[in-house]
Amino acid sequence: MVTILITYYSQSGHTELLAKAIERGAQREAIKVIVKKVKETSNDDLMQADAIIVGSPVYFGSMAAPIKELFDKSVAIRRKLRDKIGAAFATAGHHTGGKETTIFSIIQAMLIHEMIIVGDPITVGGHYGAASTGAPNDEAIKQGEALGARVAELVIRLK
Ligand SMILES: Cc1cc2nc3c(=O)[nH]c(=O)nc-3n(C[C@H](O)[C@H](O)[C@H](O)COP(=O)(O)O)c2cc1C
Repeated sequence: MVTILITYYSQSGHTELLAKAIERGAQREAIKVIVKKVKETSNDDLMQADAIIVGSPVYFGSMAAPIKELFDKSVAIRRKLRDKIGAAFATAGHHTGGKETTIFSIIQAMLIHEMIIVGDPITVGGHYGAASTGAPNDEAIKQGEALGARVAELVIRLK
């Protein structure tokens, strides 16, 4: 059994909706999908997962402080996240408000952990990870499900 951890911060629910779409897409018999709010996510949760998908609202063009705190705390497990699969998602208030810069702020931390980064499958047209402006619409929900599916397929192949 392989484990995918989806951890996120969400104040008004947009990022949480996208987390749930990713969870749906990732569901497979051979996979345990764990969805946790970031405040409930420990270094042990990160270490036990084979793939980690992190989501944040855009705050000033970057990840929100609770997500940054998760990564800052993870310095204690430096080198223990190596070769895990990583992916990111974000929601913003404005269409050019910083979804990609936020996704990249998360990916940057994952790369520092030597994780293997996964973006959107070409079939949904995105590139860097699932995102939405405000609450996810049907297209963003499909993108979230596709990202979950892509991570699920890869984690099974790599394990
Ligand atoms: C402190 C703060 C900073 C924000 N900064 C941005 C920003 O830089 N760009 C943007 O497009 N939206 C910004 N927003 C809006 C949120 O990213 C947006 O409403 C998001 O979808 C909220 O996600 P949630 O419902 O999961 O909490 C900001 C909101 C807050 C509270």
